[in-house]
Amino acid sequence: MLTSNSSSYSNSNGNCSSASSSSNSSFSSSCVQVSRDVQQQLVLLRLLPDSPGLQFPEIWLRDNCQCSTCYMQQTRSRLPQGWNYLDPSVRLQQLSWCAERQSLQISWSDGHKSSFPLSWLKERDFSPASRARYLRDCYRPEQRLWSGTEFQRIQREFLYDELLHNDEALLQWLHQLAVYGLALVKQAPLDSNVLRNLCNRVGFMRSTTYGDEWSVKAQPGASNYAYLAAPLPLHTDMPYFEYKPSITLLHTLQQSDSPGGWNLLSDAFHVADLLRQRYPGAFKVLSETPVDWADIGSEKNLRFHNIWRAPVINLDANGRYVRINLSIPQRDSHFSVPAEQVRPWYEAMALFMRLANEQACTFKTTPGDVLTFDNVRMVHGRTGYDDTEQNIRHIVGAFLDWDIAYSRWRVLKNDLGHYNK
Ligand code: OGA
Ligand code: ZN
Ligand code: ZN
Repeated sequence: MLTSNSSSYSNSNGNCSSASSSSNSSFSSSCVQVSRDVQQQLVLLRLLPDSPGLQFPEIWLRDNCQCSTCYMQQTRSRLPQGWNYLDPSVRLQQLSWCAERQSLQISWSDGHKSSFPLSWLKERDFSPASRARYLRDCYRPEQRLWSGTEFQRIQREFLYDELLHNDEALLQWLHQLAVYGLALVKQAPLDSNVLRNLCNRVGFMRSTTYGDEWSVKAQPGASNYAYLAAPLPLHTDMPYFEYKPSITLLHTLQQSDSPGGWNLLSDAFHVADLLRQRYPGAFKVLSETPVDWADIGSEKNLRFHNIWRAPVINLDANGRYVRINLSIPQRDSHFSVPAEQVRPWYEAMALFMRLANEQACTFKTTPGDVLTFDNVRMVHGRTGYDDTEQNIRHIVGAFLDWDIAYSRWRVLKNDLGHYNK
């Protein structure tokens, strides 16, 4: 509830004006009007007579005091010796607007005084539109889910050289990956530095038990199912890690001339949406039944036994998708749930796999392509192929993490002036 003020003060001479805390107050300077909603304990700012107001909880203002006792500019962080006991009994006592410094001045019941510049306040406004803008422009861009038939429309290509030398192209690539979960890099050289160079432009590679980079090549006697020429059904990479690598990069060095070796890709968040609409019971089962994902083996003298126990569809407290786990070969025969949950899980899984395959797009990369996708959201696979000595398929893979990629996206947006304030 926004309360109206009983008294208002004109302040045209640029001095600071003030009023006591006992009533809802309003101050107008040349263009800023300040008031309080006493009941909700909010400070309200109105910049133009008809513009929507900015709102700030009083206790949050106390916590975020910008003085040198409470905040350290050098480390851009709150100081523990500031309001360290978070005493919620502290109340706003006096509120004023300083037109000269364009800042909000507050005196608190604990004797502390705070000053907040208008530009700082505008970026942190609690009104719904401002919060939505911050989440979209600074936290993460909104994901657009897509069906297999929309692939041609959403897919975008980026030139390897441009990604290495042009920050705007780098930002657009990361943005595409964040929004659609998929981007194709073209014209990379056929050498061994490509994935490292790309990852270093973003930050650094994510290493796993298979090393920094891994080679997908048909190898008789391979210890990993992917290293056979057989079809690789839709999966996410490494669901058996709690800290799963979150962006996959696949560099095609050699492509098979055989009719196989096609890539399959499906937006599993979209597939989950379809399941939710059409088969809500199956959706509930797949989002609630933990599965034991596992990988046992050794690589370059490192023996490993990885297990992560989590559902196929992972949701947050608001029912939004946070992660998909899927891999037939890397689903353990240990299934540590009560026996009566097992059959319903298989029935739900059969529906999910059918939808995922129906929604998959297919294409065949050529040497010099780097296929990059969101390994948290997309499921991918390939059709089987025939390898002979003259006809070899060779893909090199590596990972990046979303934490590092989003950080780079934000820094680039800021440096290139893309934030709409
Ligand atoms: C993998 C994989 C894709 C391919 O090795 O996990 O997805 O095209 N490979 O071989
Ligand atoms: Zn302070
Ligand atoms: Zn894979």
